[in-house]
Amino acid sequence: MVQVAYYSITGQTQRFIEKTGIDAYEITDADPFHEMGAPFILVIPTYDDDMMDPVIDFLGYQSNHRELVGVAGGGNRNFNDLYIHNAKDIAQGLHVPIVFDFEFNGTMADVKKFKKVVQELELKTTEH
Ligand SMILES: Cc1cc2nc3c(=O)[nH]c(=O)nc-3n(C[C@H](O)[C@H](O)[C@H](O)COP(=O)(O)O)c2cc1C
Repeated sequence: MVQVAYYSITGQTQRFIEKTGIDAYEITDADPFHEMGAPFILVIPTYDDDMMDPVIDFLGYQSNHRELVGVAGGGNRNFNDLYIHNAKDIAQGLHVPIVFDFEFNGTMADVKKFKKVVQELELKTTEH
């Protein structure tokens, strides 16, 4: 089973996850030290790098960095070249793909597409 872990600051990413109906794990500022223990997709919004410290702590905890299979970035296209830059940096740093991107809390089409991406990754990870 591919799991989903997400981080949200103003609630847009949380809203996106809620719309998918996926039972995802929320990374919190209070305690980002939680081990997923199985392959997962990380869904994060985009801010200045230091705002992602809890996500970096989470990824550095136990086996999390090894179980990460892909990153989905939420952002705002008005940021042009900086669109989903945190997701891109993390994906590149941990050698996993960007599996999805969306603005704010995503459209219904985004929700549908993301669920398909999760299903496809599920098939891929259970093949091995
Ligand atoms: C201060 C600030 C900086 C942001 N910087 C970026 C950015 O560099 N690139 C981007 O794609 N989106 C950027 N955004 C947009 C947010 O990532 C986007 O609104 C996201 O949906 C917020 O998710 P959250 O409510 O789950 O925290 C920024 C938003 C704020 C308020």
